[in-house]
Amino acid sequence: MNSTDSSAPLTAQMKALRAHARGGPEQLVYEDAPVPGAPTGADVLVRVAVAAITFDELTWPETWEADGVDRTPIVPSHEFAGMVAAVGPEVTGLAVGDAVFGLVPFNRNGAAAEYVLVPASSIARKPAEVSDATAAAAVLPALTAMEALEQHLQVADGGRLLIRGGTGGVGAFVVQLAGRMGIEVTATVRSAEAAERAKRLGATTALVGTETDRVPAASFDGAIDTVGAGTPEWLYSAVRPGGRVITLQEPPSEDLAAAYGVDAQFFVVTADAAVLGRLAAVLATGELEVAIADTYPLAEGAAAYGSRGTSKAPGKTVLRVRES
Ligand SMILES: NC(=O)c1ccc[n+]([C@@H]2O[C@H](COP(=O)([O-])OP(=O)(O)OC[C@H]3O[C@@H](n4cnc5c(N)ncnc54)[C@H](OP(=O)(O)O)[C@@H]3O)[C@@H](O)[C@H]2O)c1
Repeated sequence: MNSTDSSAPLTAQMKALRAHARGGPEQLVYEDAPVPGAPTGADVLVRVAVAAITFDELTWPETWEADGVDRTPIVPSHEFAGMVAAVGPEVTGLAVGDAVFGLVPFNRNGAAAEYVLVPASSIARKPAEVSDATAAAAVLPALTAMEALEQHLQVADGGRLLIRGGTGGVGAFVVQLAGRMGIEVTATVRSAEAAERAKRLGATTALVGTETDRVPAASFDGAIDTVGAGTPEWLYSAVRPGGRVITLQEPPSEDLAAAYGVDAQFFVVTADAAVLGRLAAVLATGELEVAIADTYPLAEGAAAYGSRGTSKAPGKTVLRVRES
């Protein structure tokens, strides 16, 4: 039998941000939508407090289709913090009322809504000392950085890592976590201000703008492009033969990888409850800087998605769904 939060009985309708047709922020409308049904199997129904935005998600195929089938209307924002409202019959270790955070699979409806259905395997308990906004803002970029460093880059303690884009959502976590692993980090950024921040986060060297022309060939054990598509040739040439190049937005160039003898790979982050649990423990120490650039109410979600590139501050843009 499902367990349901009796203090907040499920109603038929909820407020949600949805898109009824493919496109950008202009497609997003704040409206009434059906509350997802009671959870089955190992799913958990979460009452969302804060959802975080990855602007690129509106360009990902998974946002719009599952197994090749159009799934509009869709709800965006797959990063969230909230409270367990109901659990499916196969869920263990989570109960109604638990404070949680996690990452909804990208081919499901996201958390820009009062309620979201999430597999229990993509959720962890949120430590009390970590705010909903911090947990939601950290989850996707920090998980991506952890998976890149722990599974894909294979740069050891004392090794040298080059990060293209050292102060973005993912980049800032790669810089901080690599530093904690004893890796020597060089980060590329776009301004003197960002260079200062990259160094504060733990980069040994920050290269601004065209300083990347001076990146010596074959001088890093690994490199990661946290900027986006079109990974430049200098990122491949900077890595020693046999080292790893990781891209996050699109598969790497096989030609450039072959030309420089590097092992280039692309991956899509997976939410894993055990890794989320480790992230929760690190967040609870307060030692990671989790930057939040802007906060919008859910009702202004379309404006939030449309605000890309306008923020004066670094960090994630988040949607406040419920006042805590
Ligand atoms: N594969 C996966 O699992 C996965 C997971 C998460 C994200 N992603 C992808 O990873 C990428 C980064 O995501 P994000 O959330 O970190 O984005 P983000 O917060 O927008 O960060 C991008 C960063 O790149 C910087 N940048 C842009 N052009 C640059 C340039 N020419 N040189 C140096 N830096 C430059 C930006 O600098 P400014 O601050 O100066 O604008 C910004 O800090 C996106 O493509 C996203 O889709 C993939």
